[in-house]
Amino acid sequence: MSAAALKVIARKAKGFRAEIGLVLGSGMGEFAAKVEDPIAFPYADLPGFEQSGVSGHAGRLVLGRIGRKSVAILQGRIHYYERGDAGAMKVPIETLHGLGCETLLLTNAAGSLMPGVKPGGLILIKDHVNYVQESPLFGLKGNQRFVDMVGAYDAGLRKELKSAAARLKIPLKEGVYAWLAGPQFETPAEIKSLRALGVDAVGMSTVPDVILARYFGMKVAAVSAVTNMGAGMSRETLSHEHTMQQMKNASERLTRLLLSYLKATK
Ligand code: HPA
Repeated sequence: MSAAALKVIARKAKGFRAEIGLVLGSGMGEFAAKVEDPIAFPYADLPGFEQSGVSGHAGRLVLGRIGRKSVAILQGRIHYYERGDAGAMKVPIETLHGLGCETLLLTNAAGSLMPGVKPGGLILIKDHVNYVQESPLFGLKGNQRFVDMVGAYDAGLRKELKSAAARLKIPLKEGVYAWLAGPQFETPAEIKSLRALGVDAVGMSTVPDVILARYFGMKVAAVSAVTNMGAGMSRETLSHEHTMQQMKNASERLTRLLLSYLKATK
């Protein structure tokens, strides 16, 4: 339940309402520095918010403005593989909803299965495959849990993000993202089979967050920053250090894209 977290937030940011929520994945945390008039809350101060143990995830909720938009940013996320809990992001996402967010923008680091999209590139997620077959909604009661996932990645938001990318001349192909539990990377055989099944990007996050956002009725868009080709598609040796290193290139582009999108929309 997000009521306790919202109470803490109200003490320092009384009456604050956000239009857009953002979830900053691995290596994107610095985007939070773009927020004007920021009010920040370490996750440790917010009941139900868990600090990720993964390097590159600050663990703060940052409220403020970017351009004319009021935003609520989750700077760092906990992953399923940290505790085997697909519902670990339930309170943070519910809190964004409670702050008024009608839209949720997510970022992540991912491996590309599209030969034409290399490390440093971006993929706009158009749909996903939940290979883990876990859900953050397990255990919930009531009919609201039977969430329709058709059109989960909002067509209007995707169009606006593509327009922003075109203005900046940043290539932005759409693709299908597959969630794999991790924390180990995939085998080449897994990547080969995923490619045959129509997957374009692989990662270890985002899908539970998207399911939660749809459960709460938020519109969703998600962009993957490509840090590597899927296992076996190149000679890279995959590691967290490699992911973070490659995020430096991709995050610069993704930052420009998000800023342009946020500043262009009314
Ligand atoms: N697989 C899964 N998760 C990832 C990858 C990958 O290749 N790259 C960055 N996150």
